[in-house]
Amino acid sequence: MLASVATFGLAGVDALEVTVEVDVRRGLPAFSIVGLPDAAVRESRERVRAALLNSSLDFPQSRLTANLAPAWVRKAGPSFDLALAICVLAASEQVPLERLESTAVCGELSLSGAVRPVRGALAVALAARRAGFARLIVPVENAPEAALADGLEVLGLSSIERILDVLHERRPAEAAQASHVDEVAADAPDLADVRGQADAKRALEIAAAGGHNLLMVGPPGSGKTMLARRLPGILPPPSFDESLEITRIRSVAGLGGRFARERPFRAPHHTISAQGLVGGGSHPRPGEITLAHRGVLFLDELAEFSRSALEALRQPLEDGFVAIIRGQRSLVFPARTMLLAACNPCPCGRAATECECAAVERARYHRRLSGPLLDRIDLVCQVSSPPALQLVGETGLGESSGAVRERVVAAREHQLRRLAGSPALCNGGMDGRTTRRHATLRGEAVKRLVDVVDAGGLTGRGHDRVLRLARTVADLEGRDEILIGDVDEALGYRLGAVGEAAA
Ligand SMILES: Nc1ncnc2c1ncn2[C@@H]1O[C@H](COP(=O)(O)OP(=O)(O)OP(=O)(O)O)[C@@H](O)[C@H]1O
Ligand SMILES: [Mg+2]
Repeated sequence: MLASVATFGLAGVDALEVTVEVDVRRGLPAFSIVGLPDAAVRESRERVRAALLNSSLDFPQSRLTANLAPAWVRKAGPSFDLALAICVLAASEQVPLERLESTAVCGELSLSGAVRPVRGALAVALAARRAGFARLIVPVENAPEAALADGLEVLGLSSIERILDVLHERRPAEAAQASHVDEVAADAPDLADVRGQADAKRALEIAAAGGHNLLMVGPPGSGKTMLARRLPGILPPPSFDESLEITRIRSVAGLGGRFARERPFRAPHHTISAQGLVGGGSHPRPGEITLAHRGVLFLDELAEFSRSALEALRQPLEDGFVAIIRGQRSLVFPARTMLLAACNPCPCGRAATECECAAVERARYHRRLSGPLLDRIDLVCQVSSPPALQLVGETGLGESSGAVRERVVAAREHQLRRLAGSPALCNGGMDGRTTRRHATLRGEAVKRLVDVVDAGGLTGRGHDRVLRLARTVADLEGRDEILIGDVDEALGYRLGAVGEAAA
């Protein structure tokens, strides 16, 4: 007797439909799995056998062959257990086959017959909906997450026995409800906690408004890390679709499947490898830049990261995705993220006057900084230690994150309207041509830029960067025309400033 059941395996941050086929025929009792299973899938045989027997069901004393199709793709992990178990039951006529029509199943089994949660339930549900399934059976813990894919009946069930009850229509199951509510952290850090630092806050606001990459340079203890952690609080909240993308990636990476209503903020330690940053491995897993998709990737102590790790970021930062080739397949991990970086002006970190670093040490430090990554950074801002009065007294308190966020959201709306029809969503995403089209200067502003370029202060790339930034500064004011003041402010954030800070 032959039966087949549909299930899904993870491939990058997507799910791939896999058909499990089981053939039961007379012969010496044996159970083999073919279709490029890894060790966890092969061990599935033992879990399935024990789970069925412990649920008072029969495990056929015959020759069983299971195939996982498409047979040329490697299958990894325990999430095929449930489909295998149900397929064995169907092939041994313990479950009516017609009840499995248009139904996909996904879950890990325990020896007792309980169904265990899996990673990537939302990715599975979205793929099941795309493939035209009407019903998806998942572990009960994964049900609220899977139900975020509407248009699909999601049943969250806790054991094999319970699943049989539903398939035999002995006891109905209620379709799971999506959990759109995720508790928002009440104590999210607020920009008002940072005293002084008006310039750095302004740079952070511009970066957020235009989706520009930002580098903060300053002595230790001046509040760089503190400022960086407040960036997600002033970014526009994610749209529903963006939240789905963020949730899906978190779930595939095993970080839980709660609906994400905040943008991610990833701050990997500087000892991270290139693979940890951009993803990879024999069964490719998303890296930090993918976990930061639609949010912020914060590289604190930028100069301490290994050169190879930083080099690996070049292409994803440019393209917004990471492509990883494994065997015959290519996986694409999304990586649209804002880069935020912080570093000290020199190895000792003290301001120019008190710096004791030897010139050669400083030069070495800078060599690590300059290079491929700095090319991708639009704004550089100097963060100096706040004056005593601002730090101690009450004068240093500024606006709350909420107030800044309102301006950022308004500026983004202008950009969205202007960029409608182009692939860019914000000024930071404009390519050279789009920049020239949408950031046109007039009168004095042109003259200012010509003067700076003439004086050798700007390269071609630097020129585009200044235009994009000036565009964002004007957008924050709700102005269509870019004035000379906007250009001046943008010029203040140029890259050369890294060197000057340490000079
Ligand atoms: N401007 C500020 N307003 C209020 N508190 C501050 C400010 N600057 C620093 N602090 C306090 O000092 C602590 C350290 O600051 P932070 O970690 O942001 O420094 P940093 O610039 O990242 O230093 P490093 O270069 O050593 O990483 C903060 O957690 C905060 O308590
Ligand atoms: Mg720090």
